[in-house]
Amino acid sequence: MTPHINAKENAFAKTVLMPGDPLRAKFIAENYLENVSLVTDVRNMFGYTGEYKGNKISVMGSGMGIPSIGIYAYELFKFYGVENIVRVGSCGAYSKDLNLYDIILAQGACTNSAFQENYKLPGTFSAIADFDLLLSAYNNAKNLGITVHVGNVLSSDVFYQDDVDAWKKWQSMKVLAVEMESYALYAIAANLGKKTLTILTVSDSLITHEETTAEERQTSFTKMMEIALNL
Ligand code: HPA
Repeated sequence: MTPHINAKENAFAKTVLMPGDPLRAKFIAENYLENVSLVTDVRNMFGYTGEYKGNKISVMGSGMGIPSIGIYAYELFKFYGVENIVRVGSCGAYSKDLNLYDIILAQGACTNSAFQENYKLPGTFSAIADFDLLLSAYNNAKNLGITVHVGNVLSSDVFYQDDVDAWKKWQSMKVLAVEMESYALYAIAANLGKKTLTILTVSDSLITHEETTAEERQTSFTKMMEIALNL
């Protein structure tokens, strides 16, 4: 048991898929996994362990934002023997080349957060995905006939930004999209010698202002799940 996870030792698989929403974790467990059991429910941040094609795999909500995923990823890596965390989330598109429901493999993550100050580095930390997971996800997508975009994302600390045009600066640096978690996930993995990847589905566009509904988001991320489950 850790402060935020009430699972037994060895309750988690080596690989944990992490959607932001704990109810999406429940949805994934109920719809994709077999022999599933609920392993943690502190604050209703549900985590499940089950099997996919005979392999043990877990799925747990991360909550929204860097502080939330930072807590769960650290405890899973440090105290539950987890080796790989694959975030399966949503993002807002900054690139004109992205449409709703397109999939991004986050090769790197930029941030406006102060998270890296935790590590007292004498410079700027570039948060990157694990190359093996990235390559494997890319190949899975190719084999499944799913188009993916690979590149940089912004992990923002602010959803409702006062400067409504600030995102254009990131766009000018070819940052594909905005979400709120990957920078911390990647930094924690680097610090603890673990592996991480973020796979994102475009849920809205900063350019066109198109949006998906919460209900569509809950159910329509099948392609992303196929990539993640077959890693
Ligand atoms: N901003 C930040 N995080 C997000 C967004 C967004 O527009 N869409 C999905 N996650």
